[in-house]
Amino acid sequence: MPSLYQNPIKKNNSYTILAIESSCDDTACALVSSDGTILSEHIHSQKEHITYGGVVPEIAARAHLTYLPELVQKTLEQSGRSWKDIDAIAASCGPGLIGGLIVGSSFAKGLAIAKEKPFIAINHIEAHALTVRLPNITDHKVQFPYLLLLTSGGHCQCIAVKDVGQYQLLGTTMDDAAGEAFDKVAKMLGLPWPGGPALEALAQEGDENAFTLPRPLYGRENCDFSFSGLKTAVAHYLQPYESDVIPRKIAADLAASFQKTITEAIINRLEYALTLVPQMRLLAAAGGVAANQYLRKSLQQLAHNHQIPFIAPPIRYCTDNAVMVGWAAIEILQQANQKVMMIDDIGTLPRPRWPLSQMQERFTLGS
Ligand code: KG4
Ligand code: ZN
Repeated sequence: MPSLYQNPIKKNNSYTILAIESSCDDTACALVSSDGTILSEHIHSQKEHITYGGVVPEIAARAHLTYLPELVQKTLEQSGRSWKDIDAIAASCGPGLIGGLIVGSSFAKGLAIAKEKPFIAINHIEAHALTVRLPNITDHKVQFPYLLLLTSGGHCQCIAVKDVGQYQLLGTTMDDAAGEAFDKVAKMLGLPWPGGPALEALAQEGDENAFTLPRPLYGRENCDFSFSGLKTAVAHYLQPYESDVIPRKIAADLAASFQKTITEAIINRLEYALTLVPQMRLLAAAGGVAANQYLRKSLQQLAHNHQIPFIAPPIRYCTDNAVMVGWAAIEILQQANQKVMMIDDIGTLPRPRWPLSQMQERFTLGS
């Protein structure tokens, strides 16, 4: 009988992981193997929040509890595998909304104890950061070190990914996350939540040079982001229409101008990052905002100018998913076994904040 606290050590370091993601409003489960095969995956993007125009944490936590049992069962059934084929169970334990993290990680720990499997606690940001290394995303497995732009509804970070567990946070947002800025501006323009995709669609009709907006922190010698001033500038242009319907042309021009300006601000921060860490082998993007085609094209151009490749996972793996959680667990297991270290995360508590700088500890403490 395998001990709960023993890493599965297997020939060729090959593992099959059952993974759970529940840090925000996506309830997801996946079965992933170390050659990158996604044996099965299911995701339920909660619609409960639409009427509120944003994620309501308490509703999200309850919804995870409702959907998770069926999702896990379906994932396992459709994979054609049984519990004996599963080497470990992984779940996001932070950062994120604490209610959802408690539901997902407790559910995963319960399964781990009942099925006598090791439990691996995954940092959600680390999972986003390692997704580009999933085999099948590119022809060759992405090698360290690389520069990652993570832009989602809750995060906006620029990270030098140096190895599994070694992440240098170069810059982060001082106020809103990029996705949050997209969502708030979209709401001002009368678009439905989540606003990012709707704003991108509207921007296609607009003139991106119609409005001049501030480019926050542009030219500053750091890699931080700030978007609240940009959002306020959009609100200022909308003041004359406060009690009126915004003319479609104005809304489209503002959407296009906002999209262009926020992209320029992000690219400028990354330009500076590349001067700090010139040894980066490629530029990668993750997070929901990385679905934005205008941003993707600009990132592609930036990478081209620096003679490095640009890689972004397919959109469904840019946004929250459980495949990335399973893949991060595989990377951690392989690294731990190489260092002859045990992974014992059953006592790891979920947490709303979990700095990436702490991820190295699991490979250094006690070694
Ligand atoms: O990573 P994600 O699915 O969830 C978390 O926030 O963790 O990201 C969702 C965010 C939302 O703010 C959404 O508006 C934004 O990503 N987003 C976009 C686009 N698609 C999603 N923003 C801009 N353009 C898009 N096409
Ligand atoms: Zn995320």
